Order: sequence, then structure tokens, then C-alpha cells
Amino acid sequence: MLIPSNLVNEKFDDRYFDVVNALDEAQQIYFKNNNLIERITMGIESKTTFVIGETGFGAGRLVISLMEFMEKSGLKNISIEYNSVELYPLSPERMLNILDGFRDRVGEGIDTLVEAYRSIDITVAGWHSMKIQQSFGTLELNLWIGEALEMVEALEKSCDVWFLDGHSPKKNPSIWRPELLMEIGKKTKTGGTCSTFTVAGAVKSALMEAGFTLKKFPGCGGKKQVLQGVKC
Ligand SMILES: C[S@@+](CC[C@H](N)C(=O)[O-])C[C@H]1O[C@@H](n2cnc3c(N)ncnc32)[C@H](O)[C@@H]1O
Repeated sequence: MLIPSNLVNEKFDDRYFDVVNALDEAQQIYFKNNNLIERITMGIESKTTFVIGETGFGAGRLVISLMEFMEKSGLKNISIEYNSVELYPLSPERMLNILDGFRDRVGEGIDTLVEAYRSIDITVAGWHSMKIQQSFGTLELNLWIGEALEMVEALEKSCDVWFLDGHSPKKNPSIWRPELLMEIGKKTKTGGTCSTFTVAGAVKSALMEAGFTLKKFPGCGGKKQVLQGVKC
């Protein structure tokens, strides 16, 4: 299959995501395998904010996948805090160009995300905060421009779930290095979870060292198996 050139991150010679079923793949690996709806529902009565961490913001595909997923759930008055990191931020124009391929499913959510992203100065390192209002509630997007380890160290709270969506470990081992995954383990609530598309041995070992009990789930989008971990 021909890969659209705007989907390739030149820094790592790797795609931001697979071309086929990128939204469904995100929803299976990162949301369904982590029982997101059930867990978010549990926090509604207590008005608890559900805290997400992501390594690799890229084009924001996971964010718009989450918007679609939450909207479809029919849940209301949800508060989600989404902490992500990007070392090489895309221009808003390129982000829009990439995400436009999902317009039939996500519609205006794409413009909302790109407008929020346009409002921050991506040349400035550190945290940038965006409040995005959606039909399901509020999505507070905190994006750290810079290195993933610095972001995790700067994070002042532990996450309910981590979406580990760096490039493949072969193309970018830095985003899977044990010291980073160890720090992610420390910034995960007990009983919290993580998910990733890779089942590479080095990633599994580092996640287990970081305190996660791992489980393999059937893969999707060309991957035989994917990984999910529960922090003990
Ligand atoms: C596979 S892409 C992420 C795709 C994204 N989650 C999406 O759905 O659009 C991985 C991203 O991680 C970024 N990245 C790679 N190494 C990094 C590091 N050490 N710290 C922060 N970001 C990094 C890359 O620039 C790239 O944008």
C-alpha cells in the first residue's frame, strides 16, 4: 500500500500511525483494552477527573479517537485530563492535513483540536494547556513540548492510564528506554493501566520492571498481538 508522505515522521523514518483503521485500532488498543468507559463511568458520581498520560502526541490521532469514542458512549459531564508529550511538534497545518482523513467520523472535533493547538506556542518548551469542551464534558489537554522523560518527571500527578504510542522500538528506542518506563510506572496509580501496540521483548521487560503485570490481547491493524499492563 502507498503510504501518504505526510504520515511519515522524517525524524524517525516511521509513520505516525497505520493508514488502515487508525481510529478503530486506537480505540481497541488504548480504550477498550483498558476498559475506559467502565472506569470513567465509575468516576462520574464522585466527579473524579480521569487522568491519561500519552507518550508521543504526534498528529493527535489518539485525541480525536478519544473524542469520537466518548461521544459515542453517550456519557455526559465527564472530566478528562490528557497529558501528552511531543519532542518534534508538527505545524498545525500539517496536523490538520493528516487528521482531515478522519473528517467523516470525527467532523468538527478535528477543527476544535487543531484550533486549540494553534493557540499555543509550540516553539516554547514545557507545558501548554488547552481546555476543549465536548458534548461528553471537558477535555483538558496538557501538552509538554520536549523530551518524554522530562515530561513524566514534571507530571505532578499519577495517571489512571498511559497510552504508549511512540514509534516502533526499532526506529526509536529512546521512547521505550527502561528509565522512562520506570518513571511512567511511578506515575501510574495502583490498579492503573498502560497499553501499547508493541510486544517487543525489551519493552515487556522494562514494563514489568516498572511494576506492570502484562497481558497480551489480540492485535489489530496488521499487528498479531498488543500489550496491556496493570500496575500492582
Ligand atoms: C507514533 S508517533 C505518535 C502518534 C500519535 N499518538 C498519534 O496518534 O497521532 C510518536 C511520536 O513521538 C514523538 N517522540 C519520539 N521520541 C520522543 C521523545 N523521546 N520524547 C517525546 N516525543 C517523542 C515523535 O516525534 C512522534 O510524534
